[in-house]
Amino acid sequence: MTMLTHDVVIVGAGLAGMRAALELGPGVDVAVVSKVHPVRSHSGAAQGGINAALREEDPWENHAFDTVKGSDYLGDQDAIEIMCREAPSDIRQMEHWGVIFSRAEDERIAQRPFGGAGYPRTCYAADRTGHALLHAMYERVMKRGVKVYEEWFLLSLVVEDGVCRGIVALDIPTGQVVTLRAKAVILATGGYGRVYRTSSNGLVNTGDGMAVAYRAGAPLMDMEFVQFHPTTLKSNGVLITEGSRGEGGTLINAHGERFMKTYAPNAMELASRDVVSRAEQTEINEGRGVDGCVLLDLRHLGREKILERLPQIRDLAIKFAGTDPIEVPIPVRPGAHYSMGGIQADHNGQTPMEGLFACGECSCVSVHGANRLGGNSLLETIVFGRRTGAFVDGFISGRPLGSASAAHAAREEVRIAALVNRPEGERGWALREELGTVMNRDVGVFRDRAGLEHARKRGVDILQRSANLWVMDKSRTFNTDLTEALELLHIIDLAQTIIAGALAREESRGAHFRKDFTTRNDTSWMKHTLALPGEDGPRLDHAPVRFTKYEPQERKY
Ligand code: FUM
Repeated sequence: MTMLTHDVVIVGAGLAGMRAALELGPGVDVAVVSKVHPVRSHSGAAQGGINAALREEDPWENHAFDTVKGSDYLGDQDAIEIMCREAPSDIRQMEHWGVIFSRAEDERIAQRPFGGAGYPRTCYAADRTGHALLHAMYERVMKRGVKVYEEWFLLSLVVEDGVCRGIVALDIPTGQVVTLRAKAVILATGGYGRVYRTSSNGLVNTGDGMAVAYRAGAPLMDMEFVQFHPTTLKSNGVLITEGSRGEGGTLINAHGERFMKTYAPNAMELASRDVVSRAEQTEINEGRGVDGCVLLDLRHLGREKILERLPQIRDLAIKFAGTDPIEVPIPVRPGAHYSMGGIQADHNGQTPMEGLFACGECSCVSVHGANRLGGNSLLETIVFGRRTGAFVDGFISGRPLGSASAAHAAREEVRIAALVNRPEGERGWALREELGTVMNRDVGVFRDRAGLEHARKRGVDILQRSANLWVMDKSRTFNTDLTEALELLHIIDLAQTIIAGALAREESRGAHFRKDFTTRNDTSWMKHTLALPGEDGPRLDHAPVRFTKYEPQERKY
């Protein structure tokens, strides 16, 4: 069996992973493993922008306050302060690296209003901000000569004596199982939006890094907090950027009313995402929707502004909804968009497992708490990708390479053979659809005990049936039937942690709204949820929230 060796192995070639790679010193042998080509990573789908307090009249502390408030006070305030304080210099660095930010009239980087923010501090490149950042970053990665294993699938971590010493991966084009030994492993594998049937996330977002870390004993934190973006297309869940509301777009119901005046009279459409999504779902549930949606009206922005600032979402609306927003409102609804939860990690990406680091959406640092502000996810990838890379650079210095037994890869070979050699059984796509449908219905914008219990039972049933998964394609070469089956197993594990956390948390906070516990309960629930694998599904524990100077208040927009 093949064993490769590097100083550092990074899994995930989105913004967080590539940014971490670039921070490792020139003498460090770093490899990036990614199941897709780097510029197809999901970071490229981020549209509306990246937050930073760039102007004199907008000190970084205001950004920190908005983020703490947006998190419904569950975010760790020390981490939030780091992110907001370091944001401006990271944005300038990105600009120097060639990111084509849109400009204001005075030629400074333009900034637009975004939800939950007290100031227009979201920097953008029209509505293709993630794409612009990702390409600039990849150019740097190529220039630096970082080794990239493209189209390799993460199977498991190599953990010996409680220390992470590498990974086992599947080379998708050849079907070979390979061990990559390293002094440190950084997971930067993105989120788990595809646990849900409809999601703004790319099909690749199956939470692979989180699932393998969890199985290896690294705690997952705050998994119950799943963000539903208020404006995703009805037909396929594709994102229609919050930037469209930042530019002045309005939400209307079947009666043509701007319904947000009832739910957030001050911020209106620019309240935080959890608030807007609940408002939309209420309108839909109470019969004021339009065919299961509400309408995003951009007509008053005019052709010129739409073409200049929102060209991509116009194309998307024309292609996937058959509506040109210059002339007709776009049908939108809340869709699973972002994972606030993830692998527990500190400000430097350190997880509780020695040798294992995490950054970006697959980690939970926690800068988003119970609800993330739009524009803070791209920022998190850059700030904490950089910090993790810098820390790991020191961590590996003088550290010997540990041994990694061939048994890890052998176990994966056996697991794959069992899937591929089974003559018949359950089809993965059917189980995935079943699970996604249950998650949408029972673990969505509104939750209650009965629905969550139902989801838990269905999750257990699907888990049991997945022991009989059947992969029809028996070949080794580019076996996407196999990789989809492996992804499904990740999704099933993660769904269990989301449901368990949501059932236990008997309060409403941020994106987690319980119809049977409608208020925030700081006395009992101002704490993070930790999930670890147990005998009968996830075993839950808790960790304290870290405060600096922001006292919890009632959130109003
Ligand atoms: O709406 C958006 O453009 C998404 C941005 C984000 O999730 O940060």
